[in-house]
Amino acid sequence: EKGGFDHFMLKEIYEQPRSIKDCMRGRIYPEKGLVQLGGIKEFAEKLKNIDRIVIVACGTSWHAGLVGEYLIEEYARIPVEVEYASEFRYRNPIISEKDIVIAVSQSGETADTMAAIELAKEKGATIFGICNVVGASIPRLSHAGVYTHAGPEIGVASTKAFTAQVTVLTLMALYMAQQRGTITQSKLIHLLTELDNIPTMVERCLLSNDSIKEISAKFKDARNFLFLGRGSGFPVALEGALKLKEISYIHAEGYPAAEMKHGPIALIDEEMPVVFIATKNSSYEKVISNIQEVKARKGKVIAIVTEGDTVVKNMADFVIEIPDADEIFLPLLATIPLQLLSYHIAVMRGCNVDQPRNLAKSVTVE
Ligand code: M6R
Repeated sequence: EKGGFDHFMLKEIYEQPRSIKDCMRGRIYPEKGLVQLGGIKEFAEKLKNIDRIVIVACGTSWHAGLVGEYLIEEYARIPVEVEYASEFRYRNPIISEKDIVIAVSQSGETADTMAAIELAKEKGATIFGICNVVGASIPRLSHAGVYTHAGPEIGVASTKAFTAQVTVLTLMALYMAQQRGTITQSKLIHLLTELDNIPTMVERCLLSNDSIKEISAKFKDARNFLFLGRGSGFPVALEGALKLKEISYIHAEGYPAAEMKHGPIALIDEEMPVVFIATKNSSYEKVISNIQEVKARKGKVIAIVTEGDTVVKNMADFVIEIPDADEIFLPLLATIPLQLLSYHIAVMRGCNVDQPRNLAKSVTVE
């Protein structure tokens, strides 16, 4: 049932080229520059006039929501707020019938996320669900939605469900941009053509598995880890840190790289591994300065870089390459090596990667 892999988590990491493809099937037409999302098409008109979107989720799904914020604001130019479902539900949130609330959930059964959408529904909002489990409670409570179609995820640590959620949010962002006329047709054709190629690029990311395993061996006894990124690399950093802590029990924090100087830099010494998302995108130069700041304090740098990068390679202790792609697709690629890193470290530490202590696959209690 694990398809020859030692753990479900590893199997699910390796399924991502296929799960991302399944998620896009029948939804994108690159040559026509067209995105179709049958699940939300009856709201196409509403999307044209919407003033705000609120995304509610927990854990890894909340990280996917943060990526969604970045994408929707960039391409569809709609203001987005991303909320922890557990915080949202216990406030008196300002929500009206003018709002769209998107609930992101692998299981579709997370108690806090369900309660958040029930509250938003009472206040008249339109609810979209992004779920993996077909027919689960959240899709049933939603007015409309888009399934991720990643297939069953058994490992408690979410991997393929995350990349599928990010894929759906990418599709939604482009769909909304198309409806609202905030993207040119040529840009849409370009992005969809590249998106179509992402499964192949994810396959290339997986080829780094052996070198990631070697790096993991060097850091398996670390007591702390920092993960830093900027822009859409920030949610990737958060996700990398969450994955590591939940399966290896190493304390890890994700931060926006620029926030380091406002506190976390005090933690840096020769014992501190720092993982940087340092690919060639709009924040590349800035991230390089942050790497210098860590190296000046003797921190150990592991950097996720764009294939062929030489600048970061000369500064970092270890680099892991990912294919060059438009910045919009960074989270789909940069997350893969971080999943593998936490997996190998956890296995080397003798942890139960598929069923980490104290955690359940779906959190049906508040
Ligand atoms: O099923 P959901 O996506 O609603 O679950 C949300 C979180 O409980 C979940 O993402 C959790 O953080 C995972 N264990 C992360 O790997």
